[in-house]
Amino acid sequence: MVRPRVVVGVLTLSVIHSCFASSNHISSMHHRRQSVPKSVSNLPKPWTYAGCFVDNAHGRIVANQQPDNAQLTIESCVKTCSAQNFTVAAAEFSTQCFCGNQLIAGATAAPESDCNMGCGGNATEACGAGNRMSVYSTTKNVTILPVAVPQNSSIPGSWSYQGCLMEAVGSRAIPWQNIYHTNNSATTCLSQCAAFGYTVGGMEYGEECYCGDLSDVQAAGVKFAPESDCNLPCPGDPIHLCGAGNRIQYYVWTGAPPYVWNNPQNKGYYDFLVPGIVVPLIATVGINGKVTFLEKDGTSEFNNSTGAYELDLSLVHDFSKAWREMHVKSDVFCSGSVVLPDKGGRILNVGGWSLDSTKGVRLYTPNGSAGVNGTNDWQENFQELSLQRQRWYPTAAVLANGSVLVIGGETGSNASPQPSLEILPNPGGKADTVIELDWLARTDPYNLYPFVFVLPSGRIFVIYYNEARILDPVTFSTVVQLPNLPASVNNFLGGRTYPLEGAAVMFPQHAPYTDPVRILTCGGSAPGAGVALDNCVSIEPESPNPTWLLERMPSQRVMPCMTPLPDGTFMIMNGAHQGLAGFGLATNPNLGALLYDPSKPANQRISILNTTIVARLYHSEAILLPDARVLVSGSDPQTPQYPEEMRIEAYYPPYLTQGRVQPSFTIATTDWAYGSSHPIVVTLHQGTTSTMKVSLVAAVSSTHGNAMGARTIFPAFSCLRTTCTITAPPNAFVSPPGWHQLFILDGPTPSHSAWVRIGGDPAKLGNWPKFPDFVVPGV
Ligand SMILES: *[C@@H]1O[C@H](CO)[C@@H](O)[C@H](O)[C@H]1NC(C)=O
Ligand SMILES: *[C@@H]1O[C@H](CO)[C@@H](O)[C@H](O)[C@H]1NC(C)=O
Ligand SMILES: *[C@@H]1O[C@H](CO)[C@@H](O)[C@H](O)[C@H]1NC(C)=O
Ligand SMILES: *[C@@H]1O[C@H](CO)[C@@H](O)[C@H](O)[C@H]1NC(C)=O
Ligand SMILES: *[C@@H]1O[C@H](CO)[C@@H](O)[C@H](O)[C@H]1NC(C)=O
Ligand SMILES: *[C@@H]1O[C@H](CO)[C@@H](O)[C@H](O)[C@H]1NC(C)=O
Ligand SMILES: *[C@@H]1O[C@H](CO)[C@@H](O)[C@H](O)[C@H]1NC(C)=O
Ligand SMILES: *[C@@H]1O[C@H](CO)[C@@H](O)[C@H](O)[C@H]1NC(C)=O
Ligand SMILES: *[C@@H]1O[C@H](CO)[C@@H](O)[C@H](O)[C@H]1NC(C)=O
Ligand SMILES: *[C@@H]1O[C@H](CO)[C@@H](O)[C@H](O)[C@H]1NC(C)=O
Ligand SMILES: *[C@@H]1O[C@H](CO)[C@@H](O)[C@H](O)[C@H]1NC(C)=O
Repeated sequence: MVRPRVVVGVLTLSVIHSCFASSNHISSMHHRRQSVPKSVSNLPKPWTYAGCFVDNAHGRIVANQQPDNAQLTIESCVKTCSAQNFTVAAAEFSTQCFCGNQLIAGATAAPESDCNMGCGGNATEACGAGNRMSVYSTTKNVTILPVAVPQNSSIPGSWSYQGCLMEAVGSRAIPWQNIYHTNNSATTCLSQCAAFGYTVGGMEYGEECYCGDLSDVQAAGVKFAPESDCNLPCPGDPIHLCGAGNRIQYYVWTGAPPYVWNNPQNKGYYDFLVPGIVVPLIATVGINGKVTFLEKDGTSEFNNSTGAYELDLSLVHDFSKAWREMHVKSDVFCSGSVVLPDKGGRILNVGGWSLDSTKGVRLYTPNGSAGVNGTNDWQENFQELSLQRQRWYPTAAVLANGSVLVIGGETGSNASPQPSLEILPNPGGKADTVIELDWLARTDPYNLYPFVFVLPSGRIFVIYYNEARILDPVTFSTVVQLPNLPASVNNFLGGRTYPLEGAAVMFPQHAPYTDPVRILTCGGSAPGAGVALDNCVSIEPESPNPTWLLERMPSQRVMPCMTPLPDGTFMIMNGAHQGLAGFGLATNPNLGALLYDPSKPANQRISILNTTIVARLYHSEAILLPDARVLVSGSDPQTPQYPEEMRIEAYYPPYLTQGRVQPSFTIATTDWAYGSSHPIVVTLHQGTTSTMKVSLVAAVSSTHGNAMGARTIFPAFSCLRTTCTITAPPNAFVSPPGWHQLFILDGPTPSHSAWVRIGGDPAKLGNWPKFPDFVVPGV
């Protein structure tokens, strides 16, 4: 270890070594004592006196200063340090006590007579002097570490030391702070920065660790200070320096960039689609090709809404004809929806806001066609058909066996938790078959609208708050508890489900379906101040020793929507840079769209797309349309500076803005058994069937960033000239029963979709419920 500069201070090493400064010399600077105080010997075992040492020649020689104590004694200082499991205690200047595990900063022994000040609480005991410490230790053999220097090698990752950065008083050069009282070091700090994808980092004031990006430092307009300004040893590595007050021991990641955000020339664009008439809460594309919206009713500033409307996409140019009014009988505010695998592709809506509405079970069979209003409406009858428990913010999911799982929520608006699940139709008839879930009880209120996916093993994967687990599909007991989801660099308490609200999807599954599946969740927030998360995390839950892969996003985002596209990518849109989901809880809308491409290498998957002018905060959605655009709706922020948003936009992803004609196909059979084969006849415009792809995008009902039912499958197919035969996915574990939009892709360019049903209706939902006032579509 190189011995650095000799610091000229009150007492230099040369003074100590050459002159053996007399006690009179030292004490003349401080109080003169009557009799010479002594070291203490009758201490609790194994504490013993280690000697008198020079302090502050190159910084403090014992790391942790305790509060001054006018009644200090050696016994009390030893007790203080011992209680914190330190092995070194040192007294200075009669009232100061320091704790540590070694002497640092190149401590040198002083003549015994230098430690000539009595302790504040017992003048017969020596408590050091000015810049002299009476040192006690649990061992005679005290380690003395050299004067600390900046760490400039052996740091995990590709960090390079840059120098001592001067931070302007009252402003941060690097935004994200951690405080590591006992273990701060370049390794501890910079490893944490790297784990969350930050590319600058540094340590300040010994115990503080900062992470951020070069742009933060540039924006702060900081300058370098003399190296000697950064002079505090790291508590976790006292031979190295960790800045000083307003001085950062500053490092930059100089290796290969940890992530790449693609900036394509062709970004696609937002376009105004149609004026709305409500602020939608739930958006669903029905198998009739129209978009059904449900809106909260009763708490809106507008009192003219029935709560349910359907948009005919073929009539968006004619506002007076485009919207059909529908009707719900109870308040769907914060219910959950899913498209059923029955013959009619019914939309099921469950739960809601307050009293009977929270047990609501509502069904709508989409009908009508382009330009022709359907005549069906929502059906519900609380007396005949209701949930077993009250649920506000539940998730609904179709299980592999075709029944519907309804899970979680609270008993009412911000009321007590409903940590349980139930099955529809109730397998017990009128009996109570609810299963309680302790892990939802424990994580309330941060687990609402949990993310649920059926895994290829048949088991059920759930993300709730910052946790994830795999459930048995029959008993719903936990089979695997997965590691917690990382949140932000300085707060592991952040989460991904409402009100911390991120979004989640499953990576596309490709025939022959042998690769493990990966679940991805992006964005979210942290309780309290609502610092939105700036990363996506993903996991292969059924691989050996699964761990979360963290990928930085270009910006923070709470309340994102993730929309599966026909090419296997996902749009990430809407939300805010700051806050939580809920009324009046978020600010600083995130107007930028991102595209996440799972087929690219990790940390190179995100492309920065176009921006909108419309703030879309709480209650905003983004869903895939049959023509491969994305419909973007809503914003119900109840925040003065942001409007209640009725305008509806369409996003044209880059695959539609390359000036290419969309391919097309005809299809004869649309009701597919697992593993069955189905011909289509394709018309391509630029590629051939050898560059063609086929995808199945499952029907979703989207609310609060939770695209319930989302799943993307790339089935096997083979072609003879323009006739291609598609093989349906093999089983209900790979692809739970349900309706899908079938697309073909001519190179990158998708067709319009055709609806196909895969796996039939094994739970015979189409005959449910059996009441005269419910018209059922059949199985
Ligand atoms: C000190 O160590 C004991 C025994 O290992 C432990 O129980 C205690 O929590 C520690 N105290 C502190 C303050 O770390
Ligand atoms: C002061 O310290 C001495 C030496 O350790 C000890 O013998 C004496 O009892 C102490 N006095 C008091 C009042 O604690
Ligand atoms: C004292 O510590 C040094 C360095 O840790 C070690 O080499 C030496 O053996 C120790 N001596 C005793 C008596 O423990
Ligand atoms: C870090 O070490 C490298 C190689 O030893 C040297 O070139 C560089 O100047 C050092 N950086 C600083 C800021 O001391
Ligand atoms: C440092 O200490 C903190 C607690 O203060 C702990 O959470 C963290 O894991 C420690 N880091 C390392 C690298 O030991
Ligand atoms: C972004 O969208 C606008 C229309 O809103 C369009 O004019 C522009 O070309 C788009 N930018 C890119 C890079 O595609
Ligand atoms: C309700 O009133 C608002 C404000 O006048 C209007 O913009 C909206 O279109 C109306 N909605 C319905 C469903 O009538
Ligand atoms: C609807 O709200 C308007 C303005 O707030 C009010 O004048 C009107 O009476 C309300 N209508 C009903 C039916 O409550
Ligand atoms: C559909 O019904 C609505 C009323 O709910 C009406 O305003 C609209 O013009 C109708 N559209 C068509 C195409 O008939
Ligand atoms: C919608 O379905 C109902 C039966 O559920 C039928 O009576 C009606 O004619 C259908 N309407 C249209 C426009 O297809
Ligand atoms: C599907 O599985 C659930 C959970 O075991 C069960 O309650 C339900 O009855 C099953 N449905 C069918 C149709 O077997």
